[in-house]
Amino acid sequence: MINNPILISRTQPQSRPIGIFDSGVGGLTVLRELYKQLPSESIIYFADTARLPYGTRSADEIVQFGFEILSWMVRQEVKMVVMACNTSSALALETLRSEFDIPILGLILPGARAAVHQGRRVGVIATPATAASNAYRNAILEVEPTAQVWQVGCPEFVPLVEQNRLCEPYTKAIARQYLEPLLAAQIDTLVYGCTHYPHLEPILREILPPDVKLVDPA
Ligand code: DGL
Repeated sequence: MINNPILISRTQPQSRPIGIFDSGVGGLTVLRELYKQLPSESIIYFADTARLPYGTRSADEIVQFGFEILSWMVRQEVKMVVMACNTSSALALETLRSEFDIPILGLILPGARAAVHQGRRVGVIATPATAASNAYRNAILEVEPTAQVWQVGCPEFVPLVEQNRLCEPYTKAIARQYLEPLLAAQIDTLVYGCTHYPHLEPILREILPPDVKLVDPA
């Protein structure tokens, strides 16, 4: 069952739109970058807020949700789809690519490439499903075998971001807890392994040493 898509229409109705989806507001961080780089494209943004969070779902569920959303997007005649969701990119990208005829872009490989551009001691904060999938570790090591990767699942972040509790002391305390093992590992680079997390940049920056680079796969 698909609920309440948010439709954003831009100029040039003659060109087919690009579809973007996420479980909620996370994909807006990808939409922002897309607008910057391709300002004249039409875009359909789908937020699956009825079934959020994705990060504690099974791979079968994530594939099923992706299948339903992409089927709907195809009916809207999109020319391509950007999965603005790391959890879907980690668990469903390959399966969905084999089932649909349009280009489908994910976030993991671009994120991995950007990360090794910045450093070799790479921390990844992600949803529990993305962290458990090892998608980032595998992609980073494929691009740069000498890199070291530490991944942390952060189950509380997505609900906190969706509730707009971005700067509360509680959110900061949770962030400290999640970043602790990464700080202990002396990472030089931190990847936002979930599109919701760039919304937390102000508090993450307060906790991280200034020389740690933040990488946004968007
Ligand atoms: N923003 C998504 C991601 O990048 C999904 C987060 C969630 O719903 O748990 O993984």
